[in-house]
Amino acid sequence: MLVIVEKEYADMCRVAAKMVVDRLRKKPNLVLGLATGSTPVGLYQELIRYHREDGLDFSKVVTFNLDEYIGLPPHHEQSYATFMKTQLFDHINISPENIHIPQGMFGEVNITAFETDPAVTAFCHWYEDEIKRAGGIDIQILGIGGNGHIAFNEPGSSLGSRTRVKTLTEKTRRDNARFFASIDEVPRYAITMGIGTIMEAREVLLLANGEGKAEAVRRSIEGPVTAMCPASMLQMHRKSTIILDQGAASKLSAEFITYG
Ligand code: F6R
Repeated sequence: MLVIVEKEYADMCRVAAKMVVDRLRKKPNLVLGLATGSTPVGLYQELIRYHREDGLDFSKVVTFNLDEYIGLPPHHEQSYATFMKTQLFDHINISPENIHIPQGMFGEVNITAFETDPAVTAFCHWYEDEIKRAGGIDIQILGIGGNGHIAFNEPGSSLGSRTRVKTLTEKTRRDNARFFASIDEVPRYAITMGIGTIMEAREVLLLANGEGKAEAVRRSIEGPVTAMCPASMLQMHRKSTIILDQGAASKLSAEFITYG
């Protein structure tokens, strides 16, 4: 695990973008795992800048997003499909057929029977198979929840889990309520890659900024590997890089590489 502490958010994003660009220049058909939320926005802006100013080519890139809310249609303004379009895809030359985002709408699915609903199960298997057919994820971008979640693998998620439906915790719903008119509008369920799915990526790159993430970051890096802090599983990954700003790094006790 390589932990890099940068002075500020903008520096973090530049370092993360350089890593992604380096991988993409070496492999034009890179399979890129993507996250949503506030954290990767600056990284996506940097990637857009590389595309505009240096002609960075995304035409052969294949993407897989981590998660999507259940019950929001793709065109909903808070769906992760909309987020990806407005924050990245509309501004680079990616081929629409190379974009994969979990489906959030399943018609009249009984929410108490997600585990066994055939349409949901079939979709989850298809998503996992698509990742395999693409050759596996080369580099997976991750954020971290204040409760230590990665994607929507909330505390207690199986460390070997695959793509499936998860119930969002109250903490996650409260954290994400800032994007909705009220907390009642925040979906209660999401479809998410599992921790096992994420662990199969050849490389993972987790970004975190701000003091609100400091405790989750500390538990992920210095705490025991535990399902109660899903990001701690990255300690077991063969190639993981964590890029932090000083706020997110403020509770770490060991010394880590500091640039900036
Ligand atoms: C988003 C995702 C989540 C977020 C996490 C942090 O696709 O998988 O795990 O990365 O909730 O969200 P922000 O960046 O908004 O603090």
